[in-house]
This record gives sequence, C-alpha cells and structure tokens, in this order.
Amino acid sequence: MLFSAAVLLSLLPLVLSAPSGHLLDKRAPLLHARSGKVIPGQYIVKFKDETSQTVLSAAVGKVKTTHVYKGAFKGFAGSLDSKSLEEVRNLPEVEYVEEDAVVTITDGEVASKTGSSPRAIVTQLNPPWNLARISSHTLGSNVYKYDSTAGLGTCAYVLGTGIQINHPQFAGGAVWGANFVDATTTDGNGHGTAIAGIIRSTIYGVAKQTKLVAVKVLNNSGSGTTSGIIQALNFVQTDWPTRGCANGVVAALTFGGGFSAALNSAATNLVNSGIFVTTGVGSSNSQVGGSPASAPAVCSIGASNSADQVASFNDYGPLLDLYAPGVTILTTWINGGTNTLSGTTLAMAHVAGIGALLLGLPSSLNGATLCDYIKSIATSGVLTGVPPNTNNLLAYNGWDL
Ligand SMILES: *[C@@H]1O[C@H](CO)[C@@H](O)[C@H](O)[C@H]1NC(C)=O
Repeated sequence: MLFSAAVLLSLLPLVLSAPSGHLLDKRAPLLHARSGKVIPGQYIVKFKDETSQTVLSAAVGKVKTTHVYKGAFKGFAGSLDSKSLEEVRNLPEVEYVEEDAVVTITDGEVASKTGSSPRAIVTQLNPPWNLARISSHTLGSNVYKYDSTAGLGTCAYVLGTGIQINHPQFAGGAVWGANFVDATTTDGNGHGTAIAGIIRSTIYGVAKQTKLVAVKVLNNSGSGTTSGIIQALNFVQTDWPTRGCANGVVAALTFGGGFSAALNSAATNLVNSGIFVTTGVGSSNSQVGGSPASAPAVCSIGASNSADQVASFNDYGPLLDLYAPGVTILTTWINGGTNTLSGTTLAMAHVAGIGALLLGLPSSLNGATLCDYIKSIATSGVLTGVPPNTNNLLAYNGWDL
C-alpha cells in the first residue's frame, strides 16, 4: 500500500506580504502557507533568536496562544484576529509570522566516545530483503549484518502518529514521550508503529538496541499542524537528556507539508544542537520543496525497491540526500501485527536506524554532520531510474567499516 502524499508543491515561492516596493514597511513579514491547507486565523509567530525570555513571556501574556516555544525556536502559535495580527507584526522582536497549516504523513549533545574493542558482527539469517540490502554493496545478499552494539545508548524519537510501545517486536525498548495532537496516548493509525519497527524491532529493525521514543504529532487520521510539530521539535531538544541516550539522538520526522520557513527553522535548530534529523522526501514526483524535506540540514530520503530501481513516486533533486529501501517493506503494525508498506518515510526509517547504529559505535560521529557521513559510506552508482541532479546513493549501514 502506498500512502497518499501530502502534495508538496515545489515551485510555489515563499510570498511575503509586505506591500510591494515599500521599503519603509517595518512590519514583520507575513508568510503564507500553501493555500488549501491553511488553518484560518491561526498563526505561528517567530521571535528573533536573541529575544530574551522576559520579552517573550510579556508578549505571549497579551495574546491567546495554543503553543509557546521557549526552546531554540522562540515564539508562539495561536489564533489572531486581524487587529492582533497587526499588533504582533509591529513588535520589533518579531522576525516573521507564518500561517499555520495542516501537515500529513508523507510517503510517499553527542558524547564523544573513546576506547576501542574488537568489533563483533551479528548476522541475521533470511531477513526481510530491505535489511539485507543495506548491509551489502551488491544485490542478492540474504543476510543482515550489523555491529553488535546495534545502537545501544542512543534514542530514536519518532514524530508521527505515535507508537504501539507494547508491541512484542519492540521487546520493551519503546517508551511514550509526549503527545502534541490529541488525548489518546497510542498509535491509532499504524504508520508510526510501522516506522518504529524498521528503526528498531527484533525481526524488522535496523538498530535493534536503540530506544524508541514516541512523540505523537499526527492524529489517528495522520494529520497534524505545523504549530504542533514545532513544539514537538523543541520538546526533543529538552527531553533527550532524561532518556539515557548519551551516545546520540535521532529524530525521525514522518510527515510533510507545503514549504514552511518556521518548520524548516525549527528542524535546522535541532540538527545544529547535535541531533540527527531525517525525513522522507515526499512523494509527488516533483522537485523536493515541502517541509521539512527542503531544509538542507535535514537528511531527506527517497525510496528504492528490491531491484535497485528508484520509486516513481519520489520527489527528487539536489535536496534529496540519498535513497534507501522503501518499496514493499515488511514491518510492525498496530494490534501487535505486521504490515507491508511503501513510501519515502519507510525509506527514511532505514536511515534513522543507520543513524542510531553509527552513533552507537565507539567513535566521535556527531548528529549534526551525520548525514554527510552516511552519504560518504553509501553504495554509489547502483540505482537505476535516478532523476537528473539527484544523488545516486543507496544507504549502507557500515558494519564492516
Ligand atoms: C485529524 O485532523 C484533521 C485535520 O485537522 C481532521 O480533519 C480530522 O478529523 C482529524 N481526525 C481525527 C481522527 O481526529
């Protein structure tokens, strides 16, 4: 089954509403979300990075907010009528105001480690094809090889529909983190559990010892808001020190929507703080242009199949970092079951798992630069059907490096 994509329009430029040519307009720009997905009357207000908490708290006290952002992304979200919108845009501390929008499923401080002990390699016999593929440079392998550390001491935050944390395939390695979308603290959809299973599960998982942390940002229909997701990204940054993941942190973003400067900024802040952030490129078969995939710091992944062909639904172009298996992928599903799925987030989940594996090794890899390292060890030139100006790179888990 192919998840229908949030249609990512790549050619729609960011529109600034400053009256044309009037350089004297000192108001903060109003950024328009892609029409049709806009939540009327609801806005994300981004304050300048240097704004103090005191100034932010004072400003927030005057309006009705749905989210207050006190992390690296500073500001708030809330309903603003036209008068309060104008007031907010005239505050000197405000960098920009962006319309809130609907975001959906797309398918389409890292401690430095020292010491070296001999590497022990684990071999899983007859794994799903996709696991075999990421531990071999050539087609036809039927084993999955990985370093025995398997991501131990790392955490993988899955921002999506939640995770069925008591699924037997997680063997106790999944915890509930937070819910920014509704009141049901479970995955009522299945997609989040599917992504989690590729990252870490006994049979289907890439990094079988990472700790999964469920962050629910999409409701049971697979929909959420930009404003809720920004809050979740700030949450990851403050939450991870409490979870025992000193070796490294991965954030798997399982959604996408139209271009959002605010969402890209929040995701980039997370990367700059040392967390490996990855997402699917989106699946509207056009240039990568939606968010968060269009943030250059985010590791954006396309899907390939068991014959090393890239999927026709992938978005493409220079903002696609690399490909990973993402067609006909067997993984965990809600109610303790399994399901077979296709899409760019399924591909992304493999790279999230590889990120956890690499951060779990005794090395000095850092989440902020990990996407470049993963590209440097990827299998190069083996994929067919790669569009122009797009990397011909297939994810590799580095077990023999
Ligand atoms: C999920 O959110 C969307 C968009 O806000 C809404 O239309 C839909 O009814 C919600 N579904 C559930 C199950 O809450």
